[in-house]
Amino acid sequence: MTVLDLKGLTKSYGSFKAVDNISLRLEDGEFLSLLGPSGCGKTTTLRMIAGFITPTEGTIHLDGEEISSPRGVVPPERRHMSMIFQSYAIWPNMTVAQNVGFGLRMKRLPKDRIARQVDETLRVVQLGHLAERYPAELSGGQQQRVALARAVALQPKVMLLDEPLSNLDANLREEMRGEIKRMHDEFGITTVYVTHDQSEAMAISDRIAVISAGRIEQLDTPYRLYSRPTTRFAAEFIGRTNLVDGRRNGARLEFDGFSAPAPAGTGGADGPVLVSIRPQTLRLVPRTDDIAPDIPGARVLPGSVADRTFLGERWDYGLSLATGGAGLRAAGPPEENFETGSAVWIAIPERAIVLVEDAPLMEAAE
Ligand SMILES: Nc1ncnc2c1ncn2[C@@H]1O[C@H](COP(=O)(O)OP(=O)(O)O)[C@@H](O)[C@H]1O
Ligand SMILES: [Mg+2]
Repeated sequence: MTVLDLKGLTKSYGSFKAVDNISLRLEDGEFLSLLGPSGCGKTTTLRMIAGFITPTEGTIHLDGEEISSPRGVVPPERRHMSMIFQSYAIWPNMTVAQNVGFGLRMKRLPKDRIARQVDETLRVVQLGHLAERYPAELSGGQQQRVALARAVALQPKVMLLDEPLSNLDANLREEMRGEIKRMHDEFGITTVYVTHDQSEAMAISDRIAVISAGRIEQLDTPYRLYSRPTTRFAAEFIGRTNLVDGRRNGARLEFDGFSAPAPAGTGGADGPVLVSIRPQTLRLVPRTDDIAPDIPGARVLPGSVADRTFLGERWDYGLSLATGGAGLRAAGPPEENFETGSAVWIAIPERAIVLVEDAPLMEAAE
């Protein structure tokens, strides 16, 4: 069932479109992230969903009812949504339990019902033992959990979170994102989560909308986004990769220095293509003579190591191709150590060449 439906949502400031024709649907209980660099329009989109900003064009429906359009908006307090910001504010003069029950008291729910809902929420977020503490007696992570608990206790139809973890240090951030995921799984609240951190979005989302300059570049599951990016921006933003420009020539893709059969199931007209080759799919073999090793299913190219960085769990190599063209980056296991300047064979598995943009095909489809 569709809970939240954004259609052609646009917000202009003068001639500048902060949000440019965004359409998406959230199903009941879904966890969706808006992911993109700073300034791409994430917060503006979230604030339109919350009812703080009136769209210039487009509509928002909640459970089939229109709640936003250029003609007017249902105010935030009547939307049954909870929003959590980067700088979470919990009341310093209230205990944890009082903080979590705050919104429920504002709604004038019966006392015993409030007590039950607070207890239940504190149990799930594992704050029960801290119920009588004041914020000053809590760590930063515990305070953030209280802010989450307070939002969840209201049992909103939709939870909105705007970079809630960006003020926390790296370890705590990882712990808290696990916590957010656990709370989501427990309560099943439909959630829109804003972040500029792709690993955070990958770890907790059912689907991710990759946004650039106010537009959705790709809306997909984390797995599909990583393995089948459909635009240059999405391919670059999700994980590290080699983006290689080339040309389709019949059933082959031709690049500077090498060529490969076009991936099965693709068949654009001849013309420019863009492929993605993940660094960890490349294999390096020492090169001592001119006889290329035979590696089934792989293109094997002569090259050399231009630079390398040790990252603990892997080596990061910059490679140049003897045949010319742009260099490639490769990732290698820590125990396989190729010196800078050493000659290598670079094996590119044909299956690792992922077609990102097949320009003539895309034009034909329009
Ligand atoms: N009230 C405003 N007036 C003019 N420009 C704005 C306003 N609010 C946001 N913007 C611009 O819209 C763009 C998107 O902002 P925002 O949604 O906050 O981005 P994000 O949350 O992705 O970092 C930015 O370029 C920002 O400067
Ligand atoms: Mg923002």
